[in-house]
Amino acid sequence: MRSIKKTLLATTAICLSILQAHSQQNLPKDYLSKEFHAGRRQALRNLMPANSVAVIFAYPERVFSNDVNYVYHANPDLYYFSGYKEPDAALLVFKETQGTGDTSYNEVLFVRKRDPQQEQWTGRRLGVDGGKSQLGFKRVYNSSEFEKFPVDFKKFSAVIYDELPADATGELAGLISAFKAKANVPVIDKALLNSLNVINKYGTPATLPRIVEYLKKSLKPEVYNSNELVQQLVNKPDSVTLVAVKEKIKSKYGAANSFNDYTVALRGIKQPEEIALMKKTAQLSAIAHAEVMKAIKPSMSERELEGILLYVHKKYGAEDEGYPPIVGVGANACILHYEENNETVLNNQLVLLDVGSEYHGYSADVTRTVPPTGKFSEEQKAIYQIVYDAQEEVFKMCKEGVKYRDLEAKTGEVLAAGLIKLGIIKDAKELRTYYPHGVSHHVGLDVHDKGDYQGDLREGMVITVEPGLYIPAGSKCDKKYWNIGVRIEDDILIGKDKGTNLSADAPRSWQDVEKMAAQNSIFDGAKFPPLK
Ligand code: GLY
Ligand code: MN
Ligand code: MN
Repeated sequence: MRSIKKTLLATTAICLSILQAHSQQNLPKDYLSKEFHAGRRQALRNLMPANSVAVIFAYPERVFSNDVNYVYHANPDLYYFSGYKEPDAALLVFKETQGTGDTSYNEVLFVRKRDPQQEQWTGRRLGVDGGKSQLGFKRVYNSSEFEKFPVDFKKFSAVIYDELPADATGELAGLISAFKAKANVPVIDKALLNSLNVINKYGTPATLPRIVEYLKKSLKPEVYNSNELVQQLVNKPDSVTLVAVKEKIKSKYGAANSFNDYTVALRGIKQPEEIALMKKTAQLSAIAHAEVMKAIKPSMSERELEGILLYVHKKYGAEDEGYPPIVGVGANACILHYEENNETVLNNQLVLLDVGSEYHGYSADVTRTVPPTGKFSEEQKAIYQIVYDAQEEVFKMCKEGVKYRDLEAKTGEVLAAGLIKLGIIKDAKELRTYYPHGVSHHVGLDVHDKGDYQGDLREGMVITVEPGLYIPAGSKCDKKYWNIGVRIEDDILIGKDKGTNLSADAPRSWQDVEKMAAQNSIFDGAKFPPLK
């Protein structure tokens, strides 16, 4: 929620201000500690090249409606490296200590300034003192002081920063424009920068044809025709050119790209403190799914189920959701990221619920697919079992040393064999019609978290395993399978010899789902007066 115009009626504004607090006071005991964040800054410093500085900005605030902003969500990178969760901030991490003696420093945090009048309306702020006492920084300044802060970015061999947000307003916009001027940031077309990031992040021989298509579609003709790196890749889309182009992207547009390399390397492997929070967010999300299984009835609405999940999340102290909840019945279950959740009755079609909490910054990502009657029909069971079998096979592979891409290959193999057996497809090549997404991604501070998607699985990674099949009405198969959408998704901590399912408290097999659905629910018989 954004700050309130002083002219607003107090009654409305007080209501909004309650939603606005960014206070970091009285945090729960299991929050990440300032020592954790300091350790992550040191780990970043260890990876950075000689004579370099990393600069990380807060996310912008974003408008929800007149005088109201969306609840603010911190930039996960800024949070990871500092613990700071408010807007209008920047963090500088230096490879080498700057200055000498008592005044030397190797990190500086710029924060939103304290403002008692604003804080009465929009919540407490940490300010300079809080940055020192609660987050453990020695040097903290108000963001307005950044412009005059004596740092000569031009003297560094590398200034490492992420893509700069184009929609920053207010104090953040001031911080970013001061940085651009101080660091002489090259002006580059935003779509081109995105494309270069895509090449760098996702470019493999396998993805290259799709990337070339993306470049052709997403770039303005003048940018497309004039950029030498894009031209090289489009004219000769092979692995040798790809490696050469990636290297040139790094050296020429280095900053935005190399920032991602560092954060991928660090955030992709979870620290023990993070694993403790991942366990909690996944477990409490799984418990919420189990509660839905008990409570579900054909007369319920999608939104009512969403409410039960959110209630359980809040009961356990989760501040937020990791992503907009997806609760879709029948045809809606076949829309991968369906968010409307506005079907008012479930009847007897399968309901897909992809809902995960955000607990102290860490997102779970858990999906269950449940029959509102408590019993799967034969067709529902047949599709469900194929997805379950694929998930079971991939679980067995979730250990250090397995190639990330092999999880996808195994999923395709099991799903295709199952659909061929049911006569839904004739050839494995047709599988993408019914399985259009990937089986796995990293999960953490971002639901689609930063992490290595090219190499081997490593101990300490947390990834999803989420096979699915979606058969919308009109599909070229027996009508009895139409409008069945199934996804089963769990969060797996990768170990040396095996993975641990962090969301195992939600039943997965059709037999266990039916058993859970037969149990009583605290929501049974919940009655509220009808609206007049
Ligand atoms: N909830 C988004 C996903 O499963 O990736
Ligand atoms: Mn997922
Ligand atoms: Mn999901």
